[in-house]
Amino acid sequence: MRPVILAIESSCDETSASVISNGKVLNNIIASQAVHQKYGGVVPELASRAHQQSIVWVVDEAMQKSGKKLTDLDAVAFTRGPGLIGSLLVGVSFAKGLSLGLNVPLIEVNHMQAHVLAHFIDDPKPRFPFLCLTVSGGHTQIVLVKDFLDMEVIGETHDDAVGEAFDKAAKIIGLPYPGGPLIDHYAKQGNPKAFSFPDSAMPGLDFSFSGIKTAFLYFIRDEKIKNPAFVEENMNDICASIQHHLVKMLLTRVQQAVKQTGIKQIAIAGGVSANSGLRTSLVALGEKQGWDIFIPAFEYCTDNAGMIAMAAHYKYLKNDFCSLDVTPLARMPI
Ligand code: KG4
Ligand code: ZN
Repeated sequence: MRPVILAIESSCDETSASVISNGKVLNNIIASQAVHQKYGGVVPELASRAHQQSIVWVVDEAMQKSGKKLTDLDAVAFTRGPGLIGSLLVGVSFAKGLSLGLNVPLIEVNHMQAHVLAHFIDDPKPRFPFLCLTVSGGHTQIVLVKDFLDMEVIGETHDDAVGEAFDKAAKIIGLPYPGGPLIDHYAKQGNPKAFSFPDSAMPGLDFSFSGIKTAFLYFIRDEKIKNPAFVEENMNDICASIQHHLVKMLLTRVQQAVKQTGIKQIAIAGGVSANSGLRTSLVALGEKQGWDIFIPAFEYCTDNAGMIAMAAHYKYLKNDFCSLDVTPLARMPI
């Protein structure tokens, strides 16, 4: 069953490897880095070192669990960008070494394209064209997906990403990094209408999350002056309300994108697509509007090499290989 490809992801704080055979992702090994928690965000230098520590065993485990041998590989793929340069360098260099040693081609993958292509790992798969709301710690984009490797960003954030907004809001109320999943957790028991926040007006399909971050900071500061135990006493409602607001900001733009393009197949991707509020609201909106909704399995929402492997498969079919002098890119358009 060909092609057999080993894919490596190391763009931020997850070291991951995956083996794909004939378009089927065989496994998806992920080593998360706990070292950043006490700093309240990813520390690039520590991320690079942690990738160095994990990459050999992560790749080894992916190979072993796939039942394939290194000599079965037809290509080696890696995330070229966007991401943290020091982190990317670990994966790029490791992939180059393997490609050279095994004498197989090298495939560079765009991390943001890969988030979208995570939808082709399992069924049901969207048909082209579709819209993908890609929401992570570094990006917030509405992508018009015309084909596997033909995508256009039709809306994006002018400042913070929505994942950053989740994480910063969490930090303001004293939750550890990454706070997005914790906000999601507390929100499940809270009232989403308990507190309201101002809307931000952006042109077209673009987003801005810096205003809501500041508004939330001042809201918490003012409430704590009145009642120092405000956060502890209202944790569930605060989380439910800020989550509701952020999800509303995302879905308003998706509705506009549908109106503008006439496309009614909507997918979500990226770390924030693991958010249960976003998932439920999107499904409900889809039912109301008659859209087809595509949501990846949790393990393919946050950073993972399975999605890199999927993108690499389509690139392999197009003989889209790169040379050994390729360098990682901190910024890389989709
Ligand atoms: O895609 P990802 O793993 O890494 C980047 O490429 O950025 O996304 C990480 C982001 C973080 O901001 C994290 O807080 C957020 O995704 N996230 C969530 C949830 N799970 C992860 N945000 C809200 N609710 C969640 N359940
Ligand atoms: Zn990502």
